[in-house]
Amino acid sequence: MKCDVLTIFPGIFDAYLNESILKRAREKGLLEVRLYNIRDFTSDPHRSVDDHPYGGGAGMVFKPEPIFRAVDFLREDGEPRRIILLSPQGRPFNQSTAEAYARQTQRFVFICGRYEGIDERVKTLVDEEVSIGDYVITGGELAALVIIDAVTRLIPGALGDKRSAEDESFSWGLLDYPHYTRPREFRGLQVPEVLLSGNHKEIWLWRRKQALKKTLRARPDLLEKAGLTDLDRKLLSEIRESPDGDA
Ligand code: ADE
Repeated sequence: MKCDVLTIFPGIFDAYLNESILKRAREKGLLEVRLYNIRDFTSDPHRSVDDHPYGGGAGMVFKPEPIFRAVDFLREDGEPRRIILLSPQGRPFNQSTAEAYARQTQRFVFICGRYEGIDERVKTLVDEEVSIGDYVITGGELAALVIIDAVTRLIPGALGDKRSAEDESFSWGLLDYPHYTRPREFRGLQVPEVLLSGNHKEIWLWRRKQALKKTLRARPDLLEKAGLTDLDRKLLSEIRESPDGDA
């Protein structure tokens, strides 16, 4: 994934991009993030990026000029780019969006909004307005990091173990199954026997059923979209008949 980030707080990205999976992905050339400070594209002595809203009201609005100038600058190299504006008004980002972005070869530009909003004319530059959820955070920076993280871990080679991303809950369209590691008993809490059995078919079945059970309890809405198999439906009816049963 190659991306350019337009922000007035480039420092926010340093810690997260320099740890763990994202750090390794960058070192391997699987992820490239170029940070641009929107203030560097202002033309006034105060380097101002915001102004009062026309029509009155509280708060400040991101000015269009610095963002347009930044995008003009990025486009000078002629490389195709997908321009994404992070905002709570955008289309919701989810695992399918992450998968689609991971398949893209063009560069991404993430425009991180701040303040009360962004001058509406900026949207003429934008291919897509994206939200990471139905809540308002202080700016688009965390949202850009969330997207970069979710996409990077889907890029082949970014995770140490190839199976890790494929096995995960959302790649099934379900919530994750429970995980256990040693010790076998901890403060009287046991690891389920089936996981110690070495029977891979049984383990797979148990995990699938547990994932269905968790999803039914916490996110029944996901079941409708999950593309359930006949086996899943059978497991779900077992769960409904015996919600506390384990196997
Ligand atoms: N900026 C503020 N809130 C946001 C959200 N929920 N998603 C994306 N960008 C945002």
